[in-house]
Amino acid sequence: MSFFKQTINTVPLQGQTVLVRVDYNVPFNKDGTIGDDFRIRASLPTIKRLLSDNCKVVLISHCGRPEGRDKKFSLEPIAQRLAQLLGEQVRFCDQTIGDKVKMAIRRAPKKSVTMLENLRFYAQEEANDETFARQLAQDTGARYFVQDGFGVVHRAHASTSAITHFLPSVAGLLIEREYTTITKTMRDPQRPLVAVLGGAKVSDKIGVIQALVSVADTIIIGGAMANTFLAYKGKAMGTSLVETGQEDTLNKIYAAATEKVGADKVDDFLVLPTDAAVGQLPPLDDNRRITSIDSIGENEKALDIGDKTIEKMVDLIVKAKTVIWNGPLGMTEYPAFTHGSARLALTLATHSEITSIIGGGDTADFVLGWDARGGESFTHISTGGGASMELMAGEKLPGIESLLDAHS
Ligand code: ADP
Ligand code: 3PG
Ligand code: MG
Repeated sequence: MSFFKQTINTVPLQGQTVLVRVDYNVPFNKDGTIGDDFRIRASLPTIKRLLSDNCKVVLISHCGRPEGRDKKFSLEPIAQRLAQLLGEQVRFCDQTIGDKVKMAIRRAPKKSVTMLENLRFYAQEEANDETFARQLAQDTGARYFVQDGFGVVHRAHASTSAITHFLPSVAGLLIEREYTTITKTMRDPQRPLVAVLGGAKVSDKIGVIQALVSVADTIIIGGAMANTFLAYKGKAMGTSLVETGQEDTLNKIYAAATEKVGADKVDDFLVLPTDAAVGQLPPLDDNRRITSIDSIGENEKALDIGDKTIEKMVDLIVKAKTVIWNGPLGMTEYPAFTHGSARLALTLATHSEITSIIGGGDTADFVLGWDARGGESFTHISTGGGASMELMAGEKLPGIESLLDAHS
C-alpha cells in the first residue's frame, strides 16, 4: 500500500533549505534533564536522509504548554541531545522568526542542522496564525516544508496547518511509518479488539472514546480517566484527580455504547475499575493499599487500578487479538502505582500473538523503561498520544491532510 501523501521520497529536495516540523515534546526530569528521548530518536531517519541529500535542515518543534517565552521550555537541551544522537553539530537559534533566524540560516552551510526555539513561545502557533506561518516560511528561506511531528498532527496549528499554505508540504519518514502501521492494523483489525485508555489528559482524549466505541469490542478505562468516569457514575473519589465538566461527553459515550451493546451489557463493554490502589499526596505515601471503589476515603486519591481490576483486565487482554493502549493506568512515576501498567505490559509482551499498538508520550516512556527488549516486545510503539488515538479511531489528522496528495 503506498502512502496517500507526497513524502521526502517523492519530491526533489537535494541541496534545498528544508523546514522540518518535529515533535520534541519530550518528558523532563525534575532536575531539568531530558527524561526520555524516544521522540528525538524517532526523528533521526528523516534528518539523516535530508543531510545525505545535502539539505540545509531547519527544525521547528513545540515543547510543553508554555504561556509565552519561558526558559523552562527552551529547546536548547533538546538540540544538544539531538547533536549527540546524530553525531553532527546542531546549531541552536533562540528565536523562531525574525532577523536572527534569517541570519542564522543564511550563515548555515548546506548539509547542516539548525534548530529554532519553541514554537509555543508565540501565541500565534496554537492560533494557527497565517502571518506567523508566512514568517516561518520567509525568514527560514525554506523551499519545502516536511511534516514529521507525528505526535502533533492532530492539532491544527500554524506549524501543522497554516504553514502548508506557504510552502510545498510533504511527509517525513516517521509520519509515513506511523500512519501506515496504524491504519493497516485498524483497517480490518483482528478481533476481539480491546482498547485500554488511561492517563491524565482527560479532556483531550475523552472525545476520542466516543469514536472508539464503534471500533472496539471492549474498552477498559484506567488512570485518571477512570476517576472521571467513576465520579460521573456517582462514586465518591476523595481527592483523586478528576476532570469536571465532562458530563456532556460522557453522556454521549454512554449513549453510543448503549446503542451498540444494549443497556444490560454497557458495563461489560466500558469496563471501569472496581478497586483502586490509593495514597495521599503530598507527601506521597508510596504504599500500595487497595480499596474498593465504593470506599475511597475523603482524603485519599485513587492512583492505580486495584488488584481485582488488574486480574479482570488480564482476562480480557489474553482473549484479545488486537490491543490498543494509550495512557498509563496509574501514577507510574511512583513504583507502588505502576502495577496496573506493568501487568498490562507483561501480558502483551508474553502474548506475542496479540497485535499491540501503544501510544502516548508517558505510556511509551513507561513501556520502553519496562521492556528489556527496547520496545520489541510490542507490535508498535507510537510517538503519538492524542494523534495515534485519533488515527486509531478513524479520524482525519489535520497535519497530515494538509500535505500534498501523492500522484495517483
Ligand atoms: P500519555 O502521555 O501517555 O498520552 P497522559 O499524558 O494522558 O498520557 O497521562 C500521563 C500521566 O497520567 C502520568 O503523569 C501519570 O502520573 C498520570 N496518571 C495516571 N493515572 C493517574 C491517577 N490515577 N491519578 C493521577 N495521575 C495519574
Ligand atoms: C503530545 O505530547 O501529545 C503532543 O506533543 C501534542 O502536545 P499537546 O497535547 O500539548 O498539543
Ligand atoms: Mg503525557
